[in-house]
Amino acid sequence: MYQAQDFSSLLGLKGFSDQALSLHFSLYQGYVNNVNKILERLAFLRKENQADSLEFAELARRLGWEFNGMRLHEYYFSGLSKNPSSLNSDSALAKKIVQDFGSFQEWEKDFKSLSLMRGIGWVILYYDQKEERLINFWINEHQSGHPAGLKPLLNIDLFEHAYLIDYGTKKADYLQAFLEAVDWQVIEKRFSENS
Ligand SMILES: [Fe+2]
Repeated sequence: MYQAQDFSSLLGLKGFSDQALSLHFSLYQGYVNNVNKILERLAFLRKENQADSLEFAELARRLGWEFNGMRLHEYYFSGLSKNPSSLNSDSALAKKIVQDFGSFQEWEKDFKSLSLMRGIGWVILYYDQKEERLINFWINEHQSGHPAGLKPLLNIDLFEHAYLIDYGTKKADYLQAFLEAVDWQVIEKRFSENS
């Protein structure tokens, strides 16, 4: 059973109303519940020899949506802090960003350009451990477009529920608030763990 993590310590986060955050936590919990329900139901159907049923196939298709909906929100919320650390310019991650993008500003420009694209989904800074390279990716919805085997370091939720309550259609303002709330110490740790 997957357990929903408690992110309520983020309430009061600058640039994010408690109302929007609480709604967002509920949505996240819904993903966790559905992952558990789907896994349980798939196991049941397998046991009942119904793995060739339409129900099995449709639930199996849906698992990627629910699972990534769960896991991406965990990365998202745990990458934010009410007392965020900025990126330490001496860190391995900062050096890698400079190496791969030219400067932090250039990385940020790319991350922002992707985030302001039309559509719902995520923008994720990924690390390709095989090639030792950082790449920003646009991800459709929760499940489409993830690069195989790459490690997610930093992700922004670009579904309308993430910003509509606080910013209406001003996605750029939400993006700014997000970037100011990123706890780079956490992101640096994700990069250095097993990298
Ligand atoms: Fe979300």
